[in-house]
Amino acid sequence: MQDLTLEHAFQSKIDADQKIEPRDWMPDIYRKTLIRQISQHAHSEIVGMLPEGNWITRAPSLRRKVALIAKVQDEGGHGLYLYAAAETLGIDRATLIEELHSGKAKYSSVFNYQAITWADMGAIGWLVDGAAIMNQVALCRTSYGPYARAMVRICKEESFHQRQGYEIMLTLAQGSPEQKAMAQDALNRWWWPALMMFGPNDKESLHTEQSMRWRIKRFTNDELRQRFVDMTVPQAEFLGLTVPDPDLKWNEERGHYDFGPINWDEFWNVVKGNGPCNLQRIKARRKAHDDGAWVREAAMAYAEKRKQREVQMGIEHRA
Ligand SMILES: [Fe+2]
Ligand SMILES: [Fe+2]
Repeated sequence: MQDLTLEHAFQSKIDADQKIEPRDWMPDIYRKTLIRQISQHAHSEIVGMLPEGNWITRAPSLRRKVALIAKVQDEGGHGLYLYAAAETLGIDRATLIEELHSGKAKYSSVFNYQAITWADMGAIGWLVDGAAIMNQVALCRTSYGPYARAMVRICKEESFHQRQGYEIMLTLAQGSPEQKAMAQDALNRWWWPALMMFGPNDKESLHTEQSMRWRIKRFTNDELRQRFVDMTVPQAEFLGLTVPDPDLKWNEERGHYDFGPINWDEFWNVVKGNGPCNLQRIKARRKAHDDGAWVREAAMAYAEKRKQREVQMGIEHRA
């Protein structure tokens, strides 16, 4: 009975578009869904640093290198905001990281593809960050306060990422025939994985209905995917590049682009761990975590020392 009243109050708050805050009562499944979604999002930011991080030393100019370093560093910051938002739900960061390392937690599958040429830095910024923005702009209005607030800040940085990627593509597309071919090849390889980033079709999506009712999600996977296609196709045309989809066509009646079927077998195969880089990515994360252990220990020791000094000074003060 008590729970029913609480649940009613909770849903009314959501329906009135008010935020749920950490100390508010919330149903267990709401909490669990958010922990899963926010931590998956945090892991995606952190693992997402890897494909581009590999290119920092090979950036073709100082300006490109500076922009790429800033971008990769931003992604690390996004991961931190999101781990902190997840921690407000009563789970600690060490547990979340352990779940990533053990393979229990997922991250966006798109980061299991390889970045094999410099043009991939363009395609990733343009398409992968572009798809991320579609998702994240919608999440700025998600019902859980700390998640929504983290998103506002993240979105500002994401639009810089998308532009730096598009500018790389534009430069290559206006360059030599070889450079233009590189840009086209990168678009060919990243187009479909970017569309997959929105997740399964609405019919197949397990969590969509409940998440929409709780306003964790404000739009469905298919709605966001359609927006992304509608926004990105004219950008590809401006570059003079061809989207690798023979079924892509403007549908006058719908006012949207129609596009071909997504290869969901490939998607699930990568999710299950069989993508080109799954093992490599987790190995790199584990190594970074182990190599950084001394930094965490030193920070803890320093904090402890400061605390003791404060206590000591407090005693002397009183004496
Ligand atoms: Fe990000
Ligand atoms: Fe980004």
